[in-house]
Amino acid sequence: MRRKLVVGNWKMHGSRPANAELLAALVAARPYGGDVAVCVPFVYIQETAATLAGSDLRWGAQDVSAHEQGAYTGEVSAAMLAECGCRYALVGHSERRAYHGESDALVAGKAQAALARGITPIVCVGETLEQRDAGETEAVVKRQLSVVIHQLAHCASEIVVAYEPVWAIGTGRTATPEQAQSVHALLRAQLQAATGHGERMRILYGGSVKADNAATLFAQPDIDGGLIGGASLKAADFIAICRAAN
Ligand code: PGA
Repeated sequence: MRRKLVVGNWKMHGSRPANAELLAALVAARPYGGDVAVCVPFVYIQETAATLAGSDLRWGAQDVSAHEQGAYTGEVSAAMLAECGCRYALVGHSERRAYHGESDALVAGKAQAALARGITPIVCVGETLEQRDAGETEAVVKRQLSVVIHQLAHCASEIVVAYEPVWAIGTGRTATPEQAQSVHALLRAQLQAATGHGERMRILYGGSVKADNAATLFAQPDIDGGLIGGASLKAADFIAICRAAN
């Protein structure tokens, strides 16, 4: 039985007072079952850690450098994130791929750097609307995932995968539970074939998950939780989504 995981992706949102209020509400509402984490902007990781320490909520980063250390201005290493107690790091979010030119190979390098420091990479994959309309969804997500699997080799079973159709992110247009389930099933088959552990690995769905659509998405057999953007910024919405996972 895979334990559900719900991860908030704050993106470039937040402020000290707003974060304090949001995190306090999340802590106060526990327990609501399953694993829950928030991936916050780098500068807020330490205060998030201080607030969540002692709770069973986890925290993480939205990106990580593929490099161990060195002259990489502006980058943050996995070792630094580990020092701040990060459990997770998102890698290959479609906004990083689209706006920062991240290739499949770079995403794989980031996943490897995270794992080397004991941080679970949440590897994001997903097709654009053009790719979906061209019937390329399966080929695109499989290619994105296969580069990571290949690079990680025997460690590949330690990752979390997030399927996030690009056309569903921040658009209010969610994949139907059936659309999402069919991609999740093929990703799981790919993970199973490559690692032998696909049945215990978690595959999250992301893209306009809200309090009112979370339960039907999470009820799909291969959807093990969610990666939540906009709705993770409001405590009541995020808590409702976490509850829907269990
Ligand atoms: P959204 O974002 O929930 O606002 O669509 C999801 C994500 O980008 O991780």
